[in-house]
Amino acid sequence: MRVCSIVGARPQFIKAAVVSRTLREVAEEVLVHTGQHYDEEMSDVFFDELEIPKPEYNLGIESDTHGRQTARMVAAIEPVIEETDPDVILLYGDTNSTLAGAIVGSKRDVAVAHVEAGLRSNNRSMPEEINRILTDHASDLCFAPSRDAIRNLTDEGITDDVYWTGDVMYDAILDARERSADQSTILDDLGVQPDEFVLATVHRASNTDDPENLAAILDGLTDAPLPVVFPAHPRTVNRLQEHGLWERATSELELIEPLGYLDFVRLLDTAERVATDSGGVQKEAFFLETRCVTLREETEWVETVECGWNRLVGPETAAIREALTTDWEPKSTPRPYGDGMAGQRIISLLQQHLADSEPEEQL
Ligand code: UD1
Ligand code: UDP
Repeated sequence: MRVCSIVGARPQFIKAAVVSRTLREVAEEVLVHTGQHYDEEMSDVFFDELEIPKPEYNLGIESDTHGRQTARMVAAIEPVIEETDPDVILLYGDTNSTLAGAIVGSKRDVAVAHVEAGLRSNNRSMPEEINRILTDHASDLCFAPSRDAIRNLTDEGITDDVYWTGDVMYDAILDARERSADQSTILDDLGVQPDEFVLATVHRASNTDDPENLAAILDGLTDAPLPVVFPAHPRTVNRLQEHGLWERATSELELIEPLGYLDFVRLLDTAERVATDSGGVQKEAFFLETRCVTLREETEWVETVECGWNRLVGPETAAIREALTTDWEPKSTPRPYGDGMAGQRIISLLQQHLADSEPEEQL
């Protein structure tokens, strides 16, 4: 079995690391990095820490408008597929790199498998929502992290080769939690104590590109009763500067460069609570039992809200302040995202699918 895995953005490196490790024991993997994220701290650090093999191809696409970036990825992925002739293209999440891989797979009639299929925010103004819908509809195999994701696919008429696998990020965090507690020195490096700081991340286009939303979030964070550690995504650094908010952010928050996975997990595990608009961080907060204040109006990870570990506040100063200052208790701690074996399940399903689709031997 030859699998072409396509990744490009930070969360995809973390997800692919879980699968690649075991995949390479049973199959040939061609790892393609589109180059969507390219700064050392947005890309290389994850390959090093998570021991992800060096990509066989780095397409070097980097930042661009959504249309051009996706189109350039499509144009660069197609010859790789032609040259390597994989049995399946394996995609993760909802970025432009995901969509580009789905387009090439469906145009060249190569099986497409989508990890994190079926997630919906029901907000079509979010670029990721369109990427998810298009990728799921172009996929031959949908690997859903939760029962809710399967329901979303069914509602859209996607019912063949849909599998519940659990979430690969849960697999990842089980390993990272222990390793980060052993290895990370980030608390000492920053001079913060467990439970005595708030962690924050912001990078969604709707929050960073709108100056009013970014200012409202900044106002809410600066009102937090504890110091706020803010590892800033490069997009957010650019927008803070462009919107004239940089001085305020750096003077009132502990604004630092993006962190490697182990340092970030260590902070998330020990923070009093986290404020974020990230999809992955909402889930990881839930896994680590850190209360999460989500700087969005809706979420794909509805289970985290239902059980009370996650609160949706949107880019609203008063709501952020309230969620960061008042005490609230989660209702329950369910396990909707599997048992830490999602990666293994995905590989078995790929093997099974490819064995089933082998042509019958001629008699
Ligand atoms: C992308 C994904 C988003 C995901 C996020 C993970 C899409 C549409 N969005 O958003 O779903 O949550 O990655 O972090 O695919 N930049 C750098 N250096 C880098 C990478 C980006 O400076 O290594 C800057 C550039 O100015 C770029 C901007 O960040 O224009 C945005 O990067 P891009 O990859 O387009 O989108 P993200 O906001 O990172
Ligand atoms: N992350 C990290 N360093 C950081 C911020 C986030 O390693 O400084 C990790 C985080 O643990 C999670 C992933 O990056 O696994 C989430 O990525 P991001 O928030 O960029 O994207 P999203 O999940 O929203 O697509």
